[in-house]
Order: sequence, then structure tokens, then C-alpha cells
Amino acid sequence: MTPLQKMKTMLSVKYHLLHECWLFYIQLRKHNASVNSTNNLHKLQYLLLRENHIIEKGLSMRNPRRGFGQAKVLMLLTHLDEYVSKFISIDKDFLLYPFSTISHYIAYTKETGIDISNIERVFDELLAKANCLRSSFSSNVGVRMESRVHIHAICNNSFEALLYSRHSVRYFSQEMPSKDVLLHALQIAQQTPSACNRQAWHTHIFTGANNHALLKEQGGCKGFENEISCSILVTADMNAFLSYEIHQVYIDGGLYAMNLINALHSLGLGTIPLSCGFYSSKLQSIKCLFNIPDNEVLILIIGVGILPDEFNVAISNRKNISCTNSYH
Ligand SMILES: Cc1cc2nc3c(=O)[nH]c(=O)nc-3n(C[C@H](O)[C@H](O)[C@H](O)COP(=O)(O)O)c2cc1C
Repeated sequence: MTPLQKMKTMLSVKYHLLHECWLFYIQLRKHNASVNSTNNLHKLQYLLLRENHIIEKGLSMRNPRRGFGQAKVLMLLTHLDEYVSKFISIDKDFLLYPFSTISHYIAYTKETGIDISNIERVFDELLAKANCLRSSFSSNVGVRMESRVHIHAICNNSFEALLYSRHSVRYFSQEMPSKDVLLHALQIAQQTPSACNRQAWHTHIFTGANNHALLKEQGGCKGFENEISCSILVTADMNAFLSYEIHQVYIDGGLYAMNLINALHSLGLGTIPLSCGFYSSKLQSIKCLFNIPDNEVLILIIGVGILPDEFNVAISNRKNISCTNSYH
């Protein structure tokens, strides 16, 4: 290639990268959840699912704080009221999950001796406005008790059993997972498929003070960060991907992270995926603090631990596949 041809190629790549950024910005401006969050049916449903999850998450900790979550539940009720006003005629069934969770939360909180009559009143008014009967609520919400013996007995029975028996675990026993078992999980997860077999993932295992500092920075495990004695930061290498596949780094990294979670689970450990969904400034500062090379993007932190004898897990109901599948 002549120097001129080289320069032309380089300029073309730079143009394509800028163009991709611009087109992505246009998509974001339209479809990102932070833009007009409550005027769009889908965005509002996702917002409600996020707020609903905060309650499940609070209940699935070792010792939920007495009376926790009241402000969050009132916020959820406000958004549910908005949903009822705007979208109930389009999708009323959607309401059953958050309504059932709030009902469970009210019963749970009252049992701990806390007066939440203000929340009960707002909830009753909303049920009347939505014309919803308590008899339609699901009792399969909130949390349920699991045990290490049960998980170990069933998790490797079949692939289906592996997936159904995995849950996000938010408290662990004091022991540290052995290095051998962690390496075994990494070995299994190497079987993850990747675009052109590039295997661009990388893992960083954190223990001790660095682990606690990382979890503190992550922030999504507030209230249970001291439960997690080991974490694995999954990253993926931007160097592997070309100008026409700029998001592939997240896809291959995400596939790997999921396989690693399942591998850890199949070896009997408990895991909690912890988000790396942050503004670039925070991602950059995490990279600086923990010596992560600049070419790696942060995919996920996986908190790992030994399962306690018994523990609560959030039930975290799944959508009906008719809502998530289309035939073509
Ligand atoms: C990408 C990702 C990020 C997550 N981040 C957090 C987090 O920061 N804190 C947390 O407690 N749970 C987090 N979770 C766990 C989810 O809340 C959990 O997977 C979801 O509610 C489904 O429950 P399950 O994992 O028990 O099936 C995350 C999960 C994923 C996949």
C-alpha cells in the first residue's frame, strides 16, 4: 500500500467511527430510557420494573433494615399512578407484578411492627383507580428461602436445572472460594463462543482491600458489600474489534460474563452480577484506581462467595415469552 492509500484508509476509518458515534447519538436521543421516561409505554414499564426490583433486592439481603424502602415504594406508587392514567387501556396485566410486590412488601413491613398506613392508603386508592382486585395478585413475589444443600443437589442435574437454580445471592458464608475452584470456572467459561473466535475477554480477580474498594466504587451492593469476599471484574478488549462492529466488544464480553456466572454456579458457588453501567468518567476512574488497561471496557463485576446453609433469594418473576418473542 502506498503512503497515500494508507492515509486514505486511515481517514476513511476515522470518518466511519465518527459517523457511528453520531448515528448512535441519534438512536440514544430517541430511545434511551432517560429521555421522556414516562411518556412512552415501554420506557415507563422498564422504569417500573427497576423500581419494583429495588423492593425485591431489599428483601433479599441478610437482614433487611426495619422499615426499609418506604420512600422508594411511594415513588413506585407515583409512577404506577402515572401508568394507570396513561397506559392502563393498552396493558393492564403489566400492573399485576408491581402490585403483587407492593402488597407483599406491605404485609412484610407490617409484620415487623412498622406503621405504613400512608402507603396502604395510597395503594388502596390506586387499586380502586385501576379497578384491580387483590384476588388477582400473585403470591409468587418477593423472596423465598433456598439452601446450599438443595442448590448443590439439583444444579447439575440438567442444563434447565442449572439455569432455574441460579439466583443472585446477596449474602455469603465467611469462607473464601478456593483459587482452584475459581480457576476451574474460568477454564469452563473459556468455551464461550466469540465473533471469529477472538476471545477478547479478560478477568481481574479481586480479594482483600482491593475487593472492598472496588465494590464500594461500584455502589450497587450498598448494604451487602461486606458480604462479598471476592469479585471478578470481567472486561473485554476493544483492540479486537473493527470500525464496523464497535458494539461487538460488549456482546462478546457479555456472553462470556454469563457463562462465567453459570460456570461458578455449576461448581456450587453463589454469585451476584454487579453492573458496570456508569458514565465514562466513572468507568475511567475505576480503570485508573485498579490498573485496568485503557483498551479494556468494563463489562460486569461478579461477586462470588460460598453459599450459606440457608439464604433468601429474590423471586424476580420473568416475563411471559409472548412479551419477548416475535415470529417473522
Ligand atoms: C448486568 C447486570 C447488572 C446487575 N447489577 C446489579 C447490582 O448492581 N446490584 C444488585 O444487587 N444486583 C445486580 N444485578 C442482579 C439483578 O438484579 C438480577 O440478575 C435480576 O434481578 C434477576 O434476578 P436473578 O439473578 O436472581 O435471576 C445485576 C444483573 C445484571 C445481569
